[in-house]
Amino acid sequence: MEKKIRVGLVGYGKAGHAVANVLGTDPRFELCWIARRSAVQEPQTHPGTGTPIFGMEQRSFADIFEKTPVDALVDFSSAASLHAYGEEVRKRGIMLLSAISAYSEDDLAYARSLGKETRVLCSPNITLGINFLIVAAKLLRKIAPFADVEILEQRAK
Ligand SMILES: NC(=O)c1ccc[n+]([C@@H]2O[C@H](COP(=O)([O-])OP(=O)(O)OC[C@H]3O[C@@H](n4cnc5c(N)ncnc54)[C@H](OP(=O)(O)O)[C@@H]3O)[C@@H](O)[C@H]2O)c1
Repeated sequence: MEKKIRVGLVGYGKAGHAVANVLGTDPRFELCWIARRSAVQEPQTHPGTGTPIFGMEQRSFADIFEKTPVDALVDFSSAASLHAYGEEVRKRGIMLLSAISAYSEDDLAYARSLGKETRVLCSPNITLGINFLIVAAKLLRKIAPFADVEILEQRAK
């Protein structure tokens, strides 16, 4: 059997919960821990999978990576956390998959610099349909360079 990819998940909000359920039940991955911003009363775990949850007000990424090493980091938190774990990811060659939707140009430049030393994928939207639209929008801008092309995403009620 192939070795499982050990994953750390950053962010335990609406998206993070859903991602923890998927990663925690996929046999290809071992969800080793979940990090959130606020303090947690340890030990706290994700229901169903028993994955430990750490609060970054009490912990540092260096400490978590040292005690519970991972091969990959999946980020569904906020733009700020990139800078909290970035140098550890660089130093340890940890793969990074960031789903953060609102990186600034400086954040993206920093993520690109990490990509020189480890594998980095930044996907502001992970849904297949939106990614098709992004490709289509780029094509439309080539065909009609003076037209305004915009993708608007709305939550269904
Ligand atoms: N690419 C995509 O398709 C896609 C889809 C959905 C969401 N997203 C992105 O994913 C992110 C989260 O979305 P959401 O709706 O789940 O937001 P949310 O409900 O507000 O949850 C954010 C989570 O991130 C944690 N967090 C924030 N800053 C942190 C830090 N510096 N270190 C560690 N954890 C931190 C928060 O911790 P606490 O719980 O302790 O406050 C919370 O658990 C957003 O950037 C959103 O744009 C992307």
